Amino acid sequence: MYPLIRPRRLRSNEAIRSLVRETIISPSDFLVPLFVVEGKGIIEEIPSMPNYYRLSLDNLTKEVKELWNMGLRSVLLFVKVPDNLKDNKGSEALNENGLMQLAIKTVKNACPDMLVMTDVALDPYSSYGHDGIVADGEILNDESVEVLTEMSVSHAKAGADFVAPSDMMDGRILSIREALEDEGYLNTGIMAYSAKYASAFYGPFRDALDSAPVDIKNVPKDKKSYQMDYANRFEAIRETQMDIDEGADIVMVKPGLCYLDIVREIKNEVDVPVAVYQVSGEYAMVKAAAEKGWLDHDAVMMEQLTAIKRAGANMIASYFAKDAVKLLG
Ligand code: PBG
Repeated sequence: MYPLIRPRRLRSNEAIRSLVRETIISPSDFLVPLFVVEGKGIIEEIPSMPNYYRLSLDNLTKEVKELWNMGLRSVLLFVKVPDNLKDNKGSEALNENGLMQLAIKTVKNACPDMLVMTDVALDPYSSYGHDGIVADGEILNDESVEVLTEMSVSHAKAGADFVAPSDMMDGRILSIREALEDEGYLNTGIMAYSAKYASAFYGPFRDALDSAPVDIKNVPKDKKSYQMDYANRFEAIRETQMDIDEGADIVMVKPGLCYLDIVREIKNEVDVPVAVYQVSGEYAMVKAAAEKGWLDHDAVMMEQLTAIKRAGANMIASYFAKDAVKLLG
């Protein structure tokens, strides 16, 4: 008898398809990245990220309430720092009344139960646009870790639930974990950007925060001496395992779509939750192609998000969070 097995039976209509579907996107999958700027009444569209905005604190309050009402429960905060507050050491990052510290408090005031995660890296505060301190054409590791550690404690003090070090310095997770414990922030979590690749997909994000490495003598023009080489796979597992051993609660792979092999590999290897960051360049590509009428925006967005989750993401940081949740209805 031909054929006994017909896989198409399980695809013949939406009812059966939805019954056997393995991966479902829901609002609780998302971390929503938010860009905060100084000032009042500001809502500026980022040119290379259509329909994504920089918000002043008053508008951050409104945005966070809207997210909450849509069922989104976690935000990942980034700040755009004015040039006059930038220096090599990222001193402004430690200001108790700095923009990040105020943003954390603003979100908690607006929505006390919203989970607040904060980016920990010096680049938005660095006059050179690097994630650590620059000296003699290098990014100093241990000196940078000291600042990043103080920065993390400062975020915890302001009320952050999780700090998210995205700097890729060695040993920073242990240093941050120990400092948080010492200062009594036992419940402040760490989401480590563990396998973060030196990627050209971060371009629009650096436009959003004006945080790209500057082009001056003796300052590296790229982040390849600390972010990972995209040709490497074993190294991603090693980096991730190290962060877990040092006390990371959640580990992250970044960017998303080009790195789903890494996501699955790490998912199979470790027993902590895995986050994936679908980054600014991934967002920009879909928006641009959709604007030209070359791709179906919503269909491509859902296909990509589902693929990221299917690959092993327990949560996705995505600029599409609101678009996707609206579509889910
Ligand atoms: C800062 C940071 C970057 C991103 C998240 N945190 C940029 C970079 O490392 O240059 C990228 C996010 C995105 O592109 O959406 N260290």
